[in-house]
Amino acid sequence: MLRFLLPWALILCSAFTSCLARRAPYAMRISCGARQNVQTRPTSTLWYKDFGYTGGIPGNASHPNYISPPLKTLRYFPLSEGPSNCYNIHRVPKGHYSVRIFFGIVVSSRATSEPLFDISIGGTQIYSLKSGWTNQDDQVFAEALLFLMDGTVSICFHSTGHGDPAILSIEILQIDDKAYYFGPQWGQEIILRTVKRLSCGFGQSKFGIDYGGDPWGGDRFWDHVKSFGQDSDRPRSVEDRVKQASLPPNFYPETLYRSALVSTDSQPELTYKMDVDPSRNYSIWLHFAEIDNSVTRAGQRVFDIVINGDNAFEDIDIIELSGNRFTALVLNTTFTVNGRTLTITLKPKQGSLAIISAIEIFEIITVESKTLSEEVRALQSLKKALALPPRFGWNGDPCVPQQHPWTGVDCQLDRKSGTWVIDGLGLDSQGLKGFLPNDISGLHNLQTLNLSGNSIRGAIPSSLGAIGKLQVLDLSYNFFNGSIPESLGQLTSLKRLNLNGNLLSGRVPASLGGRLLHRASFNFTDNADLCGIPGLPTCGSHLSVGGIIGIGLGASLAFLILVTCSVCWWKRRQNILRAQQLAARAAPYAKARTQSSRDIQMNRHTSYGNGRNAVETGPILLSS
Ligand SMILES: *[C@@H]1O[C@H](CO)[C@@H](O)[C@H](O)[C@H]1NC(C)=O
Ligand SMILES: *[C@@H]1O[C@H](CO)[C@@H](O)[C@H](O)[C@H]1NC(C)=O
Ligand SMILES: *[C@@H]1O[C@H](CO)[C@@H](O)[C@H](O)[C@H]1NC(C)=O
Ligand SMILES: *[C@@H]1O[C@H](CO)[C@@H](O)[C@H](O)[C@H]1NC(C)=O
Ligand SMILES: *[C@@H]1O[C@H](CO)[C@@H](O)[C@H](O)[C@H]1NC(C)=O
Ligand SMILES: *[C@@H]1O[C@H](CO)[C@@H](O)[C@H](O)[C@H]1NC(C)=O
Repeated sequence: MLRFLLPWALILCSAFTSCLARRAPYAMRISCGARQNVQTRPTSTLWYKDFGYTGGIPGNASHPNYISPPLKTLRYFPLSEGPSNCYNIHRVPKGHYSVRIFFGIVVSSRATSEPLFDISIGGTQIYSLKSGWTNQDDQVFAEALLFLMDGTVSICFHSTGHGDPAILSIEILQIDDKAYYFGPQWGQEIILRTVKRLSCGFGQSKFGIDYGGDPWGGDRFWDHVKSFGQDSDRPRSVEDRVKQASLPPNFYPETLYRSALVSTDSQPELTYKMDVDPSRNYSIWLHFAEIDNSVTRAGQRVFDIVINGDNAFEDIDIIELSGNRFTALVLNTTFTVNGRTLTITLKPKQGSLAIISAIEIFEIITVESKTLSEEVRALQSLKKALALPPRFGWNGDPCVPQQHPWTGVDCQLDRKSGTWVIDGLGLDSQGLKGFLPNDISGLHNLQTLNLSGNSIRGAIPSSLGAIGKLQVLDLSYNFFNGSIPESLGQLTSLKRLNLNGNLLSGRVPASLGGRLLHRASFNFTDNADLCGIPGLPTCGSHLSVGGIIGIGLGASLAFLILVTCSVCWWKRRQNILRAQQLAARAAPYAKARTQSSRDIQMNRHTSYGNGRNAVETGPILLSS
């Protein structure tokens, strides 16, 4: 029995472990505006209910009649919700992803025209909607292939003044780490934005999942074309198996190679032409399989591929390069388009006509530098403390995409670190309430801060003194109270300081007053009770609590000393008086003695020539 079971067990095990090795890719699909998870037929694709958004309003989507999935809800972002809104999806495993966003039209929307807006992922602008997108199957979404390495993806929608951005769905689908590798320039520093993905020949537009494609292929949408136009081609399709299709890293669906467009005898060249944005780099992928029964050997169909006049590939022989008939061949190249059109021409050289199964065109976008994360945190703390209303659109990255920085934030690229830093903040006259948080000192590169004309309360944070580059600080016309922090004296670059029109009190720091008098303009007027520099009252007449205590202590001490002194003086005086009284009582005897001695002296000398005797005798003479 065991002898029979063992081989089966081994087979099962190996099948199981290979299943483990090929785990399913991460997939997150969001049905925007949906209150419940949604499952769409026929593939039972799971769409999570709406989450992760920063604003906007849920609504019903007008039925997209040209494309699946038939999601019924959307989220739209009127300007009152701010110029930029985002979906922030967290806990996304590190990896390579295809991110796709379907646009929508709000049912019974006041605006009759389609909205046009910009889309960014992680701060890099990937797409601007083009008018007419509602009429083209492959224009109703934007798709980008990129690396997500920090666990979070922020997908933002930026108003451009052409209607309210409206989003039907967001998909974050993991793909192979090397998918669409095209050469050394490929990597985490670039994003590939899908411009075109055509499946040529008979068939219908489909998603990879409908084709039974490998999930690691990213569920690509293949837009079917039956002709490149001008009667220069005819579609062809077969039912045969095609080998080498679903291989890593791109896992193309086999079905892709079962149909093709073939040029005609009257027009042997096969030409595909499309409008593109000028001066961009494109990655171009061309798909072939020899499915024509008339071509059976190498050498029977050889052609060149010319892109905008340049020979991209020469002597392409599908059977020779792929190794067989009914075998997939994928070629890729990068190309800089200078004009507004991209033209791909297949020029037959030997034998038969040209044939092609599919075309993919990507725009190569360089990933934008981000804002220094410490400064982003400082701004987020400020956003919270000032309770910034949505109209400011402080979502996503403060500085990028460069076309859509946060309202009131001035940015500068620090070339050394390759990050953006904030060098100016102007939120003057915006009706802001709240307070100024200590964390504002995280904005180390701030040179100008203007919060004038708001209703900001509380103390001026002493941490402002740590922003060494600050040149202009305007906090005028708010409700700042308390005293001016000593630390502001450390701001050696300060040229302008407006603190007028607040409720400040106490002494202006001497360091500040003295220096400002010489080099900078300042205004401390219209405050509660400031003192200490010329132009303001002297601090003596306006005493702080500390001052009062100090003076109280001083006065008590002085009183003590006075009392002590008076006591001493009185005691001394008493002593003197007593001594005089004693002296007075002793005087008659003294007089008598002197008298007698003088009598003796007079008797001896009979002369007053000695002054001392005269003084000595004075009192005696007076008193007698
Ligand atoms: C969306 O449509 C449903 C019915 O399908 C309706 O109950 C709901 O009120 C609509 N919501 C909005 C925002 O129009
Ligand atoms: C794309 O072409 C380059 C050569 O130009 C090649 O190195 C690379 O492997 C190709 N990529 C894929 C996925 O086949
Ligand atoms: C296109 O690529 C070249 C080098 O491959 C690069 O110098 C140039 O900056 C790129 N252009 C754009 C618009 O990215
Ligand atoms: C700050 O903004 C106010 C109001 O907009 C303006 O009057 C003032 O000149 C600005 N302050 C500085 C220092 O530029
Ligand atoms: C400043 O105002 C706040 C209320 O806005 C108050 O709580 C605080 O005590 C005041 N501080 C001073 C020093 O007056
Ligand atoms: C200071 O501000 C007051 C108003 O608060 C204004 O009248 C005065 O002209 C300003 N002084 C200077 C020097 O700017």
